[in-house]
Amino acid sequence: MSEKPKVFITEQIGTEPVEWLRQYCDCTVWEGGGKAPRSHLLEVLGSYDGLITTGSASSGLIDAELLAAGQQRLKLVSTISVGYNHFDIEAMRAAGVIGTHTPYVLDETVADMVLGLMLSVARRMPELDRLVKSGEWNSLAGDAHFGVDVHHSTLGIIGMGRIGEAIARRAVDGFGMKLLYYNRSRRPELEKRYGADYLQVEELLRQSDFVVLMVPLSEETRQYIRSEHFAMMKKSAFFINASRGGTVDERALIEALRKGQIRGAGLDVYEQEPVDKNNPLLGMSNVVALPHIGSATHRTRQDMKMVAVRNAAAILTGHGTAYIVKE
Ligand code: DGY
Repeated sequence: MSEKPKVFITEQIGTEPVEWLRQYCDCTVWEGGGKAPRSHLLEVLGSYDGLITTGSASSGLIDAELLAAGQQRLKLVSTISVGYNHFDIEAMRAAGVIGTHTPYVLDETVADMVLGLMLSVARRMPELDRLVKSGEWNSLAGDAHFGVDVHHSTLGIIGMGRIGEAIARRAVDGFGMKLLYYNRSRRPELEKRYGADYLQVEELLRQSDFVVLMVPLSEETRQYIRSEHFAMMKKSAFFINASRGGTVDERALIEALRKGQIRGAGLDVYEQEPVDKNNPLLGMSNVVALPHIGSATHRTRQDMKMVAVRNAAAILTGHGTAYIVKE
């Protein structure tokens, strides 16, 4: 019997996905705690046919140097994420390495969190939570601590993919919001279903009470939202980013918040992750800051791991089909 392909997994992903994959591949899971360091990958990758990783650690960066360490044996990198901006697609193509990711299973979970960010920042929940827990209920100064309505306000979504659509459904059906959107390709079926208006980004920014950025990070979308865009937004508007930090000029966002060009921000992602504790965004009471946790429910993360191992089996052994990343 021929040998099973060998797969290296850069962090503990639980028993079920690994046991499942062991039917088809020999799996080695990093035992050193946290994520395997890049230095380790550079050392061992030449002995593996596949790599299963996540995008968040520096060891997740799949570039020419790492691929060279695969010594032409490496055939697959399977990321446990839908985003794959940590893949150097050209270098992967040149090295003959296929990249896969985990779309679909996290759409509803990320959409839940985006609505959570909108509600938290508009109704100032973290700020009020801190006051109550520190015994300062009596210091609540009436309307100085009031928030802003989410329901029946105007939501502008930039990047209307599957997650954008799941956000739209919640916003329109649940909160009676007016929906504006911008997407590379127009989506008439959504316009009909949600009474949505398709606008260019500038006009969307001018009209929205909440702007949600959901574009994937690529060279085309790096620093997609800059100071001139914040200047176009309503002073009363909130900016929500649950895509990738690199899609926004973070310094411009900080300036816009400082100058009161926008009212607040809800962020799950940052230019640098983990975000530096001295980042001015973290000191602002009108910013709700989450640690890139959009897809992080037990169930969804488990589903993502299962998709990632199935992707590996599909590419390395032909069992089933894989979600290969688009170029
Ligand atoms: C994704 O899947 O891309 C999420 O942002 C988690 O990294």
